[in-house]
Amino acid sequence: MKPDLEVAAADVNRAPARPDFADRRGGKVLVKSYGCQMNVYDAARMADVLAPEGFAETSELDEADLVILNTCHIREKASEKVFSELGKLRQIKNARRAEGKEFRIAVAGCVAQAEGAEILRKQRAVDIVVGPQSYHRLPELVRLAADGPVIDTEFPTEDKFDHLGTPSDDRIRRRGVSAFLTVQEGCDKFCSFCVVPYTRGAEMSRDAAKIISETETLARAGVREITLLGQNVNAYHGRGESGGEWSLARLIERLARVEGLARLRYTTSHPNDMTDDLIRVHGDQPELMPFLHLPVQSGSDRILAAMNRKHGADDYLRLVEKIRTARPDIALSSDFIVGFPGETSEDFEATLALIRAVGFASTFYFKYSPRPGTPGAEIQNQVPEEVKAERLARLGELVEAQRRAFNLALVGRTVEVLFEKRGRKPGQIAGKSPYLQMVQVDGPDHLVGKVAAVEIVECGSNSLFGRLMSEIEPGSGAGEAC
Ligand code: 5AD
Ligand code: SF4
Repeated sequence: MKPDLEVAAADVNRAPARPDFADRRGGKVLVKSYGCQMNVYDAARMADVLAPEGFAETSELDEADLVILNTCHIREKASEKVFSELGKLRQIKNARRAEGKEFRIAVAGCVAQAEGAEILRKQRAVDIVVGPQSYHRLPELVRLAADGPVIDTEFPTEDKFDHLGTPSDDRIRRRGVSAFLTVQEGCDKFCSFCVVPYTRGAEMSRDAAKIISETETLARAGVREITLLGQNVNAYHGRGESGGEWSLARLIERLARVEGLARLRYTTSHPNDMTDDLIRVHGDQPELMPFLHLPVQSGSDRILAAMNRKHGADDYLRLVEKIRTARPDIALSSDFIVGFPGETSEDFEATLALIRAVGFASTFYFKYSPRPGTPGAEIQNQVPEEVKAERLARLGELVEAQRRAFNLALVGRTVEVLFEKRGRKPGQIAGKSPYLQMVQVDGPDHLVGKVAAVEIVECGSNSLFGRLMSEIEPGSGAGEAC
């Protein structure tokens, strides 16, 4: 299918195209990702789609012929980062040109979607602007960019996943034993602070058959853990393997049977889509790790209503109770926003009270950042920056104390660790506990890719340290956490 491309406006002042680059096949591509895990997945798939064009992946800027910035628009700071990075890339481009060499710059991801042609006006060195739904068209965009800047921020009718191809076993292996897999994209929830429904579009779920096949490919190449991704992953409602509609619970049950796969996770979820069947699967399915990221954002009913979250603080607490009844050892994490417009100190205290009531294993917390085009940005009653900063610091102290307490409580216990790589020191290997903590042990390299029982002996600031107890049969599934 011919892409619907918009060639950049004539006021974009670009250097003359260099036909030598257009004719030459490939080169080296560096994809730099910002923001969420879906961007990490997308970055890998961008490299996959460019591989048949002769582009080899590199992590070295010095050797890259094409740099793709896979951007994040969720908060102002994340967006600003892109333009400072582009300034640096422009200098490299000028230096390369002076040596008679070509260097192309692409902006992908959510900033590309939100700002489109504006990016070319702000930074003229950019050659390609491509949105999150169009990156399967990168090969053609790279070719067209030889004649001038191109933009593709369409929401195309074709499914990008059908055009991404299958990465080789070798490429999969190089990316490690834990992989991301997008099963759902977009969001229909329209929380009043959030740009995602605008940048990623309406909710869509991939067909189960395609997800199963991608999972089998990954597992055959040695992947042992898959994190199913979606902006609203627990709202998954894709076409089932032989028709009908599957929920995320059904999909997890099916994927747990894929040979070689030891662990499954999913992220990110909305409390209102935490259905009973999904909660049940947390109790029934040992491959589903006992860790759940379930953002609540605030503990104040008034603020939750203003955020358009469509649930109250008590609903969340009841839900947590239900989940813990199904899987008592489950660890929870959440996102919080402080300083949403109109947030009073009582509202903020209610957030701290919710945090104390739940007890999170880990937490992400942000100052509210007004995003253009979202309803929150229009609210008059914005909270002053210094108040946001003070609340962020207080919330941070509380959740960091909870994180430390959670980690310390594991000392003396035995947990199953999936080893992912060599450790920090020679002779060490590192992997993840069921609760997503990094664990370092003295052990042989051949355990990378295997699940083993580890006794936790020490708790550092970012990692746990453990003693290898016994290797668990590879491919037997992670079993229950000890
Ligand atoms: N300001 C601050 N934080 C935000 N998030 C989303 N939008 C904003 C915003 N405008 C946070 C939410 C979300 C996480 C991915 O980012 O907590 O869950
Ligand atoms: Fe954004 Fe998540 Fe709300 Fe959707 S559910 S609008 S992605 S915060």
